Amino acid sequence: MGKEKAMLDKIMNLGHMMTELKDTDILMEHILTEARKLSNCDAGSIYKVEENELLFSYTQNETQQEALPPGMKLVYSNFRMPIDEKSIAGYVAYNADVLNIPDVYKLDKKLPYSFNPSYDAKTSYHTQSMLTIPMKTATGNVIGLLQLINSFDSKGNVIPFNDADLPILTYFTNTAAVALERADMTRSIILRMISMAEMRDPKETGAHVNRVGAYSAEIYEAWAIKHGKGPNEIQHNKDTLRIAAMLHDVGKVGIADAILKKPGKLTDEEYNVMKTHPIIGAKLFGDPNSELDQMSRDIALCHHERWDGRGYPGYVNVKDGSPLPDKVLPNGKAKGMLEDEVTLEARIVAIADVFDALSSRRSYKAAWTEENVYEELQRSAGSQFDPELIEIFMSIKENLQVIRSKYPDEE
Ligand code: C2E
Ligand code: SIN
Ligand code: SIN
Ligand code: FE
Ligand code: FE
Repeated sequence: MGKEKAMLDKIMNLGHMMTELKDTDILMEHILTEARKLSNCDAGSIYKVEENELLFSYTQNETQQEALPPGMKLVYSNFRMPIDEKSIAGYVAYNADVLNIPDVYKLDKKLPYSFNPSYDAKTSYHTQSMLTIPMKTATGNVIGLLQLINSFDSKGNVIPFNDADLPILTYFTNTAAVALERADMTRSIILRMISMAEMRDPKETGAHVNRVGAYSAEIYEAWAIKHGKGPNEIQHNKDTLRIAAMLHDVGKVGIADAILKKPGKLTDEEYNVMKTHPIIGAKLFGDPNSELDQMSRDIALCHHERWDGRGYPGYVNVKDGSPLPDKVLPNGKAKGMLEDEVTLEARIVAIADVFDALSSRRSYKAAWTEENVYEELQRSAGSQFDPELIEIFMSIKENLQVIRSKYPDEE
């Protein structure tokens, strides 16, 4: 019992550590190293599901590694294979179920899958026992496979993998799946963001995006400390929020330049077009399994909602912008979201965004003085903004000014 508890603790810590690691290559190395320790085995590989195929993505092999000169890395190719029942890996991905094979050279010929001995032939390695586990996310999506090879007994003889280790290995693999997915998502979101920002006039948006991200993270941290959150939770959420907040206006890529860059005041009609940017933005983030995607989506959609419910877009169907059936006002518009119907993160970004817009010169307005900006935000506590968050905001003015000077507008 005590041993299992210790093991579980170790795995929980690993889960935390892994969610901190953002680079997918480092992450795969950790996942495989830890899984091999848990099962005491010689080798292993990670396959990722990509475009309906399995991509052999990463491998470790202790025996082969030891034969290399110190500091040399094992070379392998990223081959692809179909997700069907013919191969061991394909079978596991296809059926989303574990295969624990005592000896890959003694498979029953009647089984749909068979072992491909070409890797062994090429490297003169001898694969014997093999445990292949699907990497499933919280919603049961298979995003890859963990394949462990040649489990050892205490004397170093190859033995079958122990079925009793399966629950803990499965738990570990699924934790790893979530972390790996998050890391992949971060990478793809950042790439997406950069390519979008480049498509548009970078002059106004670059510094604004950076400042809104940094202000939001700062406000969140002060809120979280006040609410007694622990340091690990704070760090994690702060990092996620910073990225998601940077993406609050990505929906503006869908707004015509004639409106986006208009030097003067918008007409009512133009303003109505402008007000679709939260919906356009929200559509870019679809993955319900990714925390970062979900937070980015909520922020993109809700950063112009108001504490008093008079913001936009309100309760709409993101697909077409129409009001949700039970949220239509008499004037045909969608009912706005009220108070904490909007997520904490979006309420934070709403403040950071307006703070930055007022403090900066825009194509349509001059910059306000610092004093006027704080006055305006204070005045809007309880109407436009969450009053508790404004109070917190006012208590960290110095930090906010430091951030401001770190990301000056380009002239
Ligand atoms: P933005 O420039 O990032 O401004 C974000 C929000 O800051 C605005 O959301 C608004 O709540 C606040 N804000 C900005 N300037 C002022 C101001 O002078 N007074 C007050 N009280 N609040 C201000 P909003 O109004 O929903 O606008 C969303 C976006 O629409 C703006 O993002 C901007 O890109 C565009 N926009 C709004 N009004 C105009 C305009 O008159 N001309 C042009 N060219 N663009 C505008
Ligand atoms: C990630 O999803 O890995 C990035 C979010 C964070 O910084 O925690
Ligand atoms: C961005 O937020 O990445 C740029 C979108 C814009 O043009 O405002
Ligand atoms: Fe906006
Ligand atoms: Fe903005």
